[in-house]
Amino acid sequence: MRILVTGGTGYIGSHTCVQLLERGDEVVILDNLSNSKKEIVDHIETITGIRPVFYEADILDEDALERIFSAHAIDAVIHFAGLKAVGESVHQPLRYYHNNITGTLTLLAVMDRHDCRKIVFSSSATVYGTPASVPINEDFPTGGTTNPYGTTKLYLERILTDLHTADPRWSIVLLRYFNPVGAHDSKLIGDNPNGIPNNLMPYVTRVAKGILPCLSVFGDDYPTHDGTGVRDYIHVLDLAAGHVAVLPCLDQPGVKVYNLGTGIGYSVLDMIHAFEKANGIKLNYKIAPRREGDIAEVWSDPSKAERELGWKATRTLEDMCRSAWEFETNQN
Ligand code: NAD
Ligand code: UD1
Repeated sequence: MRILVTGGTGYIGSHTCVQLLERGDEVVILDNLSNSKKEIVDHIETITGIRPVFYEADILDEDALERIFSAHAIDAVIHFAGLKAVGESVHQPLRYYHNNITGTLTLLAVMDRHDCRKIVFSSSATVYGTPASVPINEDFPTGGTTNPYGTTKLYLERILTDLHTADPRWSIVLLRYFNPVGAHDSKLIGDNPNGIPNNLMPYVTRVAKGILPCLSVFGDDYPTHDGTGVRDYIHVLDLAAGHVAVLPCLDQPGVKVYNLGTGIGYSVLDMIHAFEKANGIKLNYKIAPRREGDIAEVWSDPSKAERELGWKATRTLEDMCRSAWEFETNQN
């Protein structure tokens, strides 16, 4: 297939591009580089031996999208492009709604004009809000998002579903990711956020490297096995493989929804200890107050993806911790 990957130089996008190229798909990347670097295209080429077509462009730029769709007969779009910092979204709601929602509306309009009506969308477990119980399956109610970032995902799921109702020719897959961590074995691509990381694993690796002095564990009084927050961490290579596994769904019009997680919950202290053990490193950490908006425990029921797609996460927590550290140590 000829696949347009928006946000393809980002963390999850770059790992997915590698797997698409390795199985013989043609990949066209569009990214405005607001949260990634152009060198990622070189790294993708080093890993796969194939250089993807790359456009430094914005999904808000309709003319640029028109040019890309006119130049390439795109079969399907995997749509990763978006802003994703939860805290930032609280302070800059208009920027988040504009980028994520207006950007996606612009993309969808151009796709429609070019008779390309197949899209895989990066959604998030955040659409479930505070779930009534765990594990969470795809039939759980959505809503109750607590920040504009999460609300963009919720609204975009609704917009895409409405689009299919209006025009049943659309094939839409909504992928709800849990917590991606880890990196490619080449150590060339991984999670490399700009500035001080918000997410746990990149914070851990920067403390381990001495770039940051100490990890704050946000709360140890949650009703979990050790009092710290529990999440469903999934290796980014397993997550990328989930995108490849859903591509056949695009042959049938409709809206499909899948959780991509492991079905296992680990606490913050579990993660710290696993990281220390996998890499033979002592981490400097302290218990700090709870982070506003956090919930005690979230993990997935990923069985629908296994049943319908034959996809299952296979990599272990040790693989996640080791590859995240190897990637960090390979950075300047
Ligand atoms: P990322 O920031 O590494 O990648 C997103 C890419 O999109 C970046 O390269 C950025 O430059 C690009 N981008 C942003 N706005 C753009 C625009 N207007 N035009 C063109 N490019 C634009 O993030 P990621 O972790 O790879 O996440 C990919 C997608 O998955 C995002 O939509 C994110 O919200 C979603 N997601 C991520 C997580 C996670 O924990 N990483 C969890 C759930 C969902
Ligand atoms: C967060 C977002 C979620 C988003 C996801 C991916 C919130 C409330 N949720 O999920 O919407 O889809 O990132 O970007 O921000 N932790 C620490 N110390 C740290 C960092 C994290 O103890 O320095 C803890 C958190 O309290 C949590 C766990 O580690 O219990 C995981 O946190 P994080 O990596 O930020 O992911 P989520 O909060 O699950």
